Amino acid sequence: MATSSRLAPLSGILSPDNADKRSDLIELLRTAYWMEIETVMSYLANSINPDGVRAREVVEHLQKDIGTELGHAEQFGNRIKELYGVVPGSLEFSADQAYLQPPPDQTDVVHVIKGVIEAETGAIEHYNRIIEGTDGVDWATQDMAIEILRDEEGHRRLFEGFLREYEVEGLT
Ligand SMILES: [Fe+2]
Ligand SMILES: [Fe+2]
Repeated sequence: MATSSRLAPLSGILSPDNADKRSDLIELLRTAYWMEIETVMSYLANSINPDGVRAREVVEHLQKDIGTELGHAEQFGNRIKELYGVVPGSLEFSADQAYLQPPPDQTDVVHVIKGVIEAETGAIEHYNRIIEGTDGVDWATQDMAIEILRDEEGHRRLFEGFLREYEVEGLT
């Protein structure tokens, strides 16, 4: 993570004084990157597997979100590079989303909705951590994370609405 002192700016996250903070932040960004990649995998599978009329709306939203989540991964990756980190390779990946595995019954759309809400909640928590950790030290990462946070809050809200419909009918 060496930066030339001649070229290094005097303030902000690229300042030599903030080298430790930068390295901590890169770790948070790598975690965020993997969360997005795993979400892409989970949403892809769960946009293909479900059966039934009731699953169509959920499937259509997941299809749309795959591109959004991939875009988030790309943003986190680019920011890792800008901070002199390295975007990890696939061998470093370890899966976490037990709750978004295909359900035994492919018409079980409630399982998918709950899994999406859990994934989005995890992202919201982690991105809030990034936003707090960058406060006063890395405005650009903070700005990016705030924008992505809003996407995730929107996704979570949408799927909460789906779940509510099933709750009303006593199907959860
Ligand atoms: Fe995302
Ligand atoms: Fe999302």
